[in-house]
Amino acid sequence: MSRWVCTVCCWMLVLCLWTVGLQGADVETEGKTIEVTSAGIACSEALAARVGLAVLKEGGNAVDAAVSVAFALAVTYPVAGNIGGGGFLLYRSAEGETRALDFRETAPAGARLDMYWDEQGRPVPEKSRIGALAVGVPGTVRGLYLAHSQYGKLPWSRLLAPAIRLARKGFAVYPFLAERLARYEEQFKQFPESYRIFFPRGRAPKPGELLQQPDLANTLEAIAREGDAGFYTGPVAQAIVRAVKSHGGVMAQPDLENYRAVFRKPVQIRYGDFLLYSMPPPSSGGLVLQGILNTLQATGFSADRFPHNGADYIALLSEIEKRWYAYRNAYLGDPDFVHIPWSLFASPEKAKEIARSVSLAHPFPARQLPAYRLITSSEKPETTHLSVVDQQGNAVSMTYTLNGAFGSFLVAEGTGVLLNNEMDDFAARPGYPNLYKLVQGWANAIAPGKRMLSSMTPTLVVHDGDLEGVLGTPGGSTIITSVLQVFLNRVAYQMPLDQALAAGRFHQQWLPDSVFVEKDRFSPTVIQELNERGFHIVSRERIGDVQAIWRSQQGWVVGADPRGNGLPVGF
Ligand code: GLY
Repeated sequence: MSRWVCTVCCWMLVLCLWTVGLQGADVETEGKTIEVTSAGIACSEALAARVGLAVLKEGGNAVDAAVSVAFALAVTYPVAGNIGGGGFLLYRSAEGETRALDFRETAPAGARLDMYWDEQGRPVPEKSRIGALAVGVPGTVRGLYLAHSQYGKLPWSRLLAPAIRLARKGFAVYPFLAERLARYEEQFKQFPESYRIFFPRGRAPKPGELLQQPDLANTLEAIAREGDAGFYTGPVAQAIVRAVKSHGGVMAQPDLENYRAVFRKPVQIRYGDFLLYSMPPPSSGGLVLQGILNTLQATGFSADRFPHNGADYIALLSEIEKRWYAYRNAYLGDPDFVHIPWSLFASPEKAKEIARSVSLAHPFPARQLPAYRLITSSEKPETTHLSVVDQQGNAVSMTYTLNGAFGSFLVAEGTGVLLNNEMDDFAARPGYPNLYKLVQGWANAIAPGKRMLSSMTPTLVVHDGDLEGVLGTPGGSTIITSVLQVFLNRVAYQMPLDQALAAGRFHQQWLPDSVFVEKDRFSPTVIQELNERGFHIVSRERIGDVQAIWRSQQGWVVGADPRGNGLPVGF
């Protein structure tokens, strides 16, 4: 009898698995890559990923999914997910139309060149990093609204519903969030409203405890009802302005009303048979990636001559990065305010000239590069990225941010909206290093209404006219080089996506004149070899949190960086 029951059970299980297989089961894993046949999402937090998955399954497209994930992350991933910040979205339709949407924050009209200087004219870092003076005019809600009005399919209010529910009913704090909140408790304490929301028991929440954000739920409801007007005009806008002013900031009502998100032409980069689309200024991502990849090709680089993460590879890539970050920091800024030398970054002659100047035997002194004469800030790593491919083959690559972890730490009273500290991405004082030691020039100096230079690099990869990959990452100034390395790992070194994401990363950004390498991820012999050649090697904690989707034989591989808290989902 029991054998009979057992056999029947086994057959039922087989039948069940087979049926699920036929119907295209949801694929979800705490591991970091999955194979799916139709559609997928990679983002930094699991609840938000599942919100997007439900939207895709309901027939929503990639933009719908991205909008719903972005609003959900504003609730569940307050480290970087936001409605009080800004970012960039790259969209590609299944037919191949590709557009870049810029919803980067702007400096308020009351911003001044010297607003963060002391009496001696030196920048005071805290002023541009914590509290109301650090807040740029948020772009996220207007950007998402514009993306949805152009390309969305499901109703706007449907896309906000899960975020509202998560904010009102709450969610269990997960270990990563508990750790980050505990880490930044002192900063939150400076802002009683923010502390009340995120430390509801008068201490950092423990993993598993409920976090409810009823004020944020009300604000999201206003946005669901009234569209972007629910944020940029009316009671929410008034409360934001009141909060910023009462804490010593300069943002005013017209700054919010006049904020515009804009579509821009993506930067196009040819690498062998691949065509990459990436973000143009006011992000430096696309142009710097273009300069580096053009130069790499001009050297005649091939993976078989440069063992992966060997001394020659690190020397080659970091010396090329150094040259292009120098140009970045000297020339790039908001294209509505400064002249962008597009042709410099695209020039094959410039790429060849730089390729000829690179020596693997020793590093070129950063301060002797010509760009140094032109420069006489800081990008924080707590940005977040999401990649989406839908059933039709539309794709979204979107990076958005509050800048630092939890932005300015200031929540506008009564709104639940955590505001950014994006003003720190300007060169607070041209020529002085910012928090991430980036030394930037006048092109990125503060001016009213101007967008601060970014490194966000949402990228789409096309091969033979078909979408091949979608990728991006947080990481401040290391964003560009992380995207670069995952792309090269996949395409030049032919690594499967999980390995391409997991491989150790390094970074050079001109100044400081050092190569940053991920701790314990590089062979000591390689490091010693580089030291002997005169490279200044600095080891640091993890670089990036790449979220990527890549074409596979079955459909797509969806991958969340093993360094991060993300979850790949799909079906
Ligand atoms: N705040 C990071 C960046 O825009 O690059």
